[in-house]
Amino acid sequence: MSPSPTPAYRSLWDSLLPIGRDPGTGGYRRFSWTPADLDCRAWFEAAARDRQLRTERDRNGNLWAWWDVPGSGKPPPGGPPPGGAPPRVGTAVATGSHLDSVPDGGAYDGPLGVLAAFAAIDELRGEGFTPSRPIAVAAFTEEEGGRFGVACLGSRLLAGAIDPDTARELQDGDGITLAGAMRAAGQDPGLIGRDEDLIARLGCYVELHIEQGRALADLDATLGIADGIWPHGRWRLDFAGQADHAGTAALADRRDPMIPYAATVLAARQAAAERGARATIGKVTAEPGAANAVCSEVRAWLDVRAADGRTLEDTVDQILGVAGQESDANRVALASRQESFSPEVEFDVPLAGRLAGALAARGFEAPSLPTGAGHDAGVLAARLPTAMLFVRNPTGVSHSPAEHAEDADCAAGVAALAAVLRDLAS
Ligand code: HGY
Ligand code: MN
Ligand code: MN
Repeated sequence: MSPSPTPAYRSLWDSLLPIGRDPGTGGYRRFSWTPADLDCRAWFEAAARDRQLRTERDRNGNLWAWWDVPGSGKPPPGGPPPGGAPPRVGTAVATGSHLDSVPDGGAYDGPLGVLAAFAAIDELRGEGFTPSRPIAVAAFTEEEGGRFGVACLGSRLLAGAIDPDTARELQDGDGITLAGAMRAAGQDPGLIGRDEDLIARLGCYVELHIEQGRALADLDATLGIADGIWPHGRWRLDFAGQADHAGTAALADRRDPMIPYAATVLAARQAAAERGARATIGKVTAEPGAANAVCSEVRAWLDVRAADGRTLEDTVDQILGVAGQESDANRVALASRQESFSPEVEFDVPLAGRLAGALAARGFEAPSLPTGAGHDAGVLAARLPTAMLFVRNPTGVSHSPAEHAEDADCAAGVAALAAVLRDLAS
């Protein structure tokens, strides 16, 4: 019998959905350290308090809600943690995701994983379960890189995967640095950086996420288990030319940055199509932006992903090659730099096996599938056993207000996550 959403699950959505939602598009604008983000943080801390979970904001601004082992006061004895990795000091079972969004993003990408974690704890409590390992719900900051350009910034800082000085100087579109934004929100940016004590408390991390693609829908499967994440990266391309009059400047005299930019967009599609990769330019600015002038500068952000590192490298090289040639041919100066990079991720096989077993015991069959979408789980995979559970996305659409998952599938995701947490925290 497929589970259905509980009143507590629905009330979590009711209080979260209005935060940072654009009334015109129905999409979300939840960027780290903005008022919408602070409201999301308040939502998280209220949900934790309502469940008597101990809340913690780590030095990087990531949020944690702890279901401690009753009467423990300290991490329970080590022993082989889930996933079969060598014994670690920490044995906490962490789950969660992120609450920030891309500009005009959907309601489920991130929030479903955080909300399902709270709902799974409700379910376990309702069954009278008591964990013998701490369970932690996490909400990582700036997973989308929507404000400061680096994806999974909060989990990268936690894991030591980005230099804190570099991170502090990251700027948003208005020139505000991460340090400035954190300070304005009352969080000391001087503390950011790797947090080995926190990492050492964790035994494993399992992230539930709406699938960003249609594989489960095509397989008619409710849930899936991730086997890996494609390598992917983000490059900023600055095409600098010369402003001029749209009506009088002869074409041969122009140094129009729009021309090499346009060639690069088409080259990106071509290079990706040739290799079964993904290449996207979804963000572009043109200065000064006069309708009757040749612009002086075009700034574009290129996102490239592929099934393996070599294919990714070849795809990027081909695209940047065309960008350079077309810039030279139009006497335009090109500056390109990598803003964010995530290497290929293979999730922990024994832990994925534990997930499959826990789901099967609950009557769920879950195919394993790769994803081209990045996640905090992908960053943490370098530091501890991690796994991901996907919930069917009927259309596959994501990073869009049209993103949607059915209640019944989300309820199945909660039940599956509860079964996984019960198994790992017993
Ligand atoms: O971009 C991504 O793949 C993720 O949604 N941050
Ligand atoms: Mn996303
Ligand atoms: Mn996400």
